[in-house]
Amino acid sequence: MPNAKLILNDKEYEFPVFAGSENEVAIDISKLRAQTGAIAYDPGYGNVGACSSSITYIDGDAGILRYRGYPIEQLATQATFVEVCYLLIYGHLPTADELEKFNARLNKHSLVHEDMKKLFEGYPPSAHPMAIMSAMVISLSAYHPDLLDPEIIDTNIMRLLAKFKTLAAFTYKKSVGQPYVYPRSDLSYTADFLHMMFSVPTHDYDIPDVVVKALDLLLILHADHEQNCSTSTVRMVGSSQANVFASVAAGVNALWGPLHGGANQEVIMMLEDIHKDGGDVQKYVNMAKDKNSHFRLFGFGHRVYKNFDPRAKILGKAADDVLNALHVTDPLLDIARGLADAALSDPYFIERKLYPNVDFYSGIIYRALGIPTSMFTVMFGLGRLPGWISQWKEMHNDPQTRINRPRQIYTGETARDYVPVDQR
Ligand code: ACO
Repeated sequence: MPNAKLILNDKEYEFPVFAGSENEVAIDISKLRAQTGAIAYDPGYGNVGACSSSITYIDGDAGILRYRGYPIEQLATQATFVEVCYLLIYGHLPTADELEKFNARLNKHSLVHEDMKKLFEGYPPSAHPMAIMSAMVISLSAYHPDLLDPEIIDTNIMRLLAKFKTLAAFTYKKSVGQPYVYPRSDLSYTADFLHMMFSVPTHDYDIPDVVVKALDLLLILHADHEQNCSTSTVRMVGSSQANVFASVAAGVNALWGPLHGGANQEVIMMLEDIHKDGGDVQKYVNMAKDKNSHFRLFGFGHRVYKNFDPRAKILGKAADDVLNALHVTDPLLDIARGLADAALSDPYFIERKLYPNVDFYSGIIYRALGIPTSMFTVMFGLGRLPGWISQWKEMHNDPQTRINRPRQIYTGETARDYVPVDQR
């Protein structure tokens, strides 16, 4: 491909151009500052490729999402979450033998150190589960010190994947004041999580197949999404060679924000507000359009998808199926559908290409499965975990990785002399 040309102060510079496997074109400006003295300015990084990656492909205009080449629609209907974890982390679908060994390793590592229960004791029951999760993930590095040995790294990756679900369930148990339930090695990853969430010492939770399948679907749809805010955070932190626990704990924090994974909790709170307010969806659409109101329709809009979010399409249908199968009627689903219809026919949303995103319907399904609203973003984190891990691993093994260190344009005061306090 011919070089790209840039003219700056009447001088011409050339920069290499290259394409990815789906013909996405990039101008390599890694020498821009060295050659021209200028930097590329792009707040929010909407036009900057911070890495090359072979994990996930998204075409936001066509609504395409693929993990390692496999379309999300096929994985959602045919794979299990554990298969998808293996696929993301190791790059190929596991054989039957590989899957058996992988499951055995997940079972082996699913207990957390007994002392970690003391960490939970220190938190108030009202603590947000994401605050506890972030602290627990970084705490794993205290119990399983990181060494640069690739085998230890692989074991720590398994530990993180296996223990995250135990920690997530313990976080819930802490919030409701019930005793922690230990993992069971005879259950699948997803069923084991549900067992630890909902069993109590007097009664083992009877795990319905439809609930396991619905949760598997939700986790698969969240498993990776290339260089989103939390994944970029994981890579940013990991670029300093921070270990996988430290890097993923940072990802948990980034995910918590209401513009990212925290949106799934916000959507349900918004739908509840509309319900309590009499169900007038148009009133909320109008508020979202009003620039003075600072109100946004949570679960709407996406930086990358400008036509539809394929995950929301799958979940919109799954919401009906799951609620029917569980004989649940939820007035919030009707409000969500009404809100989506009102927004999708409104010129404000059409012009800005704002569509329901993955968070729009996920909360309604979580509610039907009995998962409380405060745990929704933890559920997103459980799903996104294999993505964070695989992106961390890819970055860690990439010889081209440099410590991430963006530049800035300084707009503050120019040099001035210090003034002693009695003269100010
Ligand atoms: N409701 C109302 N208006 C919106 C919404 C919304 N949900 N989203 C974007 N807009 C408007 C903006 O006000 C802006 O309008 P303007 O051009 O008149 O100023 C325009 O659409 C573009 O929006 P940006 O904020 O510039 O888009 P950006 O790509 O930076 O943000 C984001 C994407 C954060 C997802 C945004 O759409 C949003 O805040 N959505 C609500 C929160 C949400 O659902 N987040 C989950 C995202 S998916 C995920 O992380 C899993």
